[in-house]
Formats: sequence, C-alpha cells, structure tokens
Amino acid sequence: MVTKTKTISGFSKLSKRGKIKWMVENFFKDPENVMHELMSYWHHNEDQQKILDGFSENTITNFPLPFSVAPNFLINNKAYCVPMVIEESSVVAAASSAAKFWMDRGGIHAEVLNTKKFGQIHFLWNGDTNKLQKLLPELRLKMLDGAKELMHNMIERGGGVGEIELKKLDVIKDYHQFLISFKTCDSMGANFINSCLESFSNTLEQFITQTEALNDDERELEIIMSILSNYTPECLVRTWVSCPVSELGAFNGNLSADEFAEKFYTAVQIAKWDPYRAVTHNKGIFNGIDAVVLATANDFRAVEACGHAYASRSGVYSSLSDCKIENGQFHFSLEIPLALGTVGGLTALHPMAKRSLELLENPTAEELMMITAATGLAQNFAAIRSLVTTGIQYGHMKMHLANILQHLKASAEETSLAKEYFFDKKVSFNSVRNYLETLRR
Ligand code: MEV
Repeated sequence: MVTKTKTISGFSKLSKRGKIKWMVENFFKDPENVMHELMSYWHHNEDQQKILDGFSENTITNFPLPFSVAPNFLINNKAYCVPMVIEESSVVAAASSAAKFWMDRGGIHAEVLNTKKFGQIHFLWNGDTNKLQKLLPELRLKMLDGAKELMHNMIERGGGVGEIELKKLDVIKDYHQFLISFKTCDSMGANFINSCLESFSNTLEQFITQTEALNDDERELEIIMSILSNYTPECLVRTWVSCPVSELGAFNGNLSADEFAEKFYTAVQIAKWDPYRAVTHNKGIFNGIDAVVLATANDFRAVEACGHAYASRSGVYSSLSDCKIENGQFHFSLEIPLALGTVGGLTALHPMAKRSLELLENPTAEELMMITAATGLAQNFAAIRSLVTTGIQYGHMKMHLANILQHLKASAEETSLAKEYFFDKKVSFNSVRNYLETLRR
C-alpha cells in the first residue's frame, strides 16, 4: 500500500522550496543534504532561473549537462565550431577528430532536398468520399480563409499551407483523413501547424453540416484529432564526404588505405542489412545529431522518432548512411529528415540555445539542418573508423580512465603516471583505485 505521505494534492501550488521539502522528507534518507544539493544547482541569477523554470512544470532545480564545442567543421566551404550537449564521453572528441580529418580532404558537403512538413485531421464520416473529394477546392478555400489571421505572418515570410489531400482508409469504419503539407520557414512550426489544423477542423465541421452539396444523412462527422505529424520524410537533408581512397591514409600502422576503405564499406553494408547492427550504427549518428539538436533547443524526441521511422521506410530497419567505392574514390553519405527551427520555440528563450545559434552565426533552419546532419555524418565516420581499426574501447577507455582519475581526485602527477601505466592495460574502477593506492603508499 502507498503510504499517505508519499502522495499529495496541491503539489503544483507549493513554492519551489516547499516542493523540494515535501519531496526530500518523503523520499530521501538524508533530506537536509539532498535539499542543500538540489538548491545548489539553482541559477545564481534569479531572472535566468525564472526563464528555465518556465520551460516545464513542478521544476525544483536544474539538471546540468556538459556544453561542448567541436571545431573544424568545414561544411560547404564554411568553417563552423559546432555546439554539442551530450553526456557521453568520446562523442565530442570523435566528432572533432572526424571533422578535422575531412577538413583536410575538401570538407563536408550538404544540401537540403526539401522542407515540407505534414499535419493531419483524422475524422469519422460515413458520407460519399468522392463527393467530398470534388468539394475539396471549395473546402480548401474556406479552410484557408478561416485561418488567414493565423497564417498571415508565416505567408509573409514565404511559408504557409501546401497540398490538402483527402484519404479514405478502410482500416477503421468511416475513417477519413486530411493530410496537409506545410512550409514553416525558419521555425520548427509545431505551434503554427497545430493551430492551423484546429482551425481547419472547425471549418470542416461547419462545411459538412452546412454545404448544400451533401445529403442530410452525410452531415454527421466526428473529428477524432488534429495534430502535426512528426514523420517528415520530405523535410530532408543530404550530407556527404568524398576523397580518393589513396588519400584516406594508413590506419593503425597495419591497415592500408585500400584495406581501410573496404573494411569501412563492409561495416556500412552490414548496417544496411542487419537491424541489430543498424540500430547501433544509427545510434552513433544520433550521438552527433541529438547533441546539436539539444544545444540549439530543438525537439530531439521528434527528430529521433522521425529518423528511426525513416530508417525503416523500406520495411526493414536499415542504416541511415551509405558508403560506396567507385573508380578509386571513397564516398560516404547520410540522408536524414530533420525538422529543425532557428526562430521561435525555445531557440529564442533558452539562454544557451541563443548562444549556440550565435556561435553558428545565426543560421537559417536549412543551414542548421545541414550543420546537424554533417555532425551526424562525422560522428558516424569516427565510430566506424574506430570500430574497424582500433576497436571502440580504445578511445572510450582513455576517457573512462580520465573520469575515474578525476573521481578519485588524482593529482596532475598521478594522472600522468596512470595514463602511461594504463596505456596497454584494462581500465576498471578497481584497477585504477588499486593503482593509485599503490602509488600513494
Ligand atoms: C556509442 O555511443 C556509439 C557506437 O556504438 C556507434 C557504432 O557502433 O557505430 C560506437
């Protein structure tokens, strides 16, 4: 049974201190310490803290994550220093190293293929679908007219509503759907799309009940929901690197450029055919993508959900990146849907997101799509390069060792000795602690 003190009504009305107090007293063994610790993460600037608190509800403190940068990204001949928010060691080092590698080989190329987004109105209606299809031009005008206030600014900026497609799907009795395309310029556009859809569905209801072209027995309609789709396969960016195989260099002392290229190519082929490998392969891509998406306060859940659905578009979950070797040339590319914004939403509110965008010289949404995809490609390149040469643990363990040494409060001298000692040895918390103990004795 749940004890009474572990539940509460009116929690949201408590002050921040009150919320923490109730929580620590009921769920922690050392309430005073925890309260002190949680409050130590409050921002010293009250105004900044208010902004952060405003992003969610029941906020009691902040959850810090490292903010890193990866320099030397040459994308379409422009140099970027990419902001990355990520908690996994090695990711930023790997991205930076791959960026530098490609900077010396012509850089990373990228192009936006399309920026279309979609929203849907799902409804049940037992009328004649063909008749509604014929009435669509008239209904469309009414929908647009009803939402003109909402759309005014977006249209001025060059965006707005595109095609409106009526679908009848026999999976559910009377189920119909409007699939509506949108262009949202530099904003991610979720609010804009959802507001338009709700207005369109009101218009649809009125139209169905009032138009003379329908019979009385066709007037009943039930709107199930109106919502944007986070599947944006037509908000697509492509990024690629390419160089003669001979310029890839030698790897790890014992792998020639040719051997490396072949092994790399095979690794990507495996990720194309085997979902077990593809998920890990794509996770590596998202290590880079999510880090930029988070640093710019974009919606990483939407980006992830969409990316994985896109990776399954053939019916089999597959690699998002591709590799080919043709006439002695090595090509590595990534095609990924990325619905990102550089204006509106949190991008303008989150103080660090604003700085991230400033660092990227205030890109348009299309530029940010290219930068983000290029970071994903670099990350994927670095991961596969490690996997087919030294193995991933080599780099990971170096970072892991640094973290353990820091945790054990190793001095600069101890750190340097430990790094030398563990160069060719297995790193674990115990082995490092034992080593330090011996050293300190
Ligand atoms: C680890 O976060 C990511 C990798 O597993 C990606 C991959 O295997 O390609 C290294």
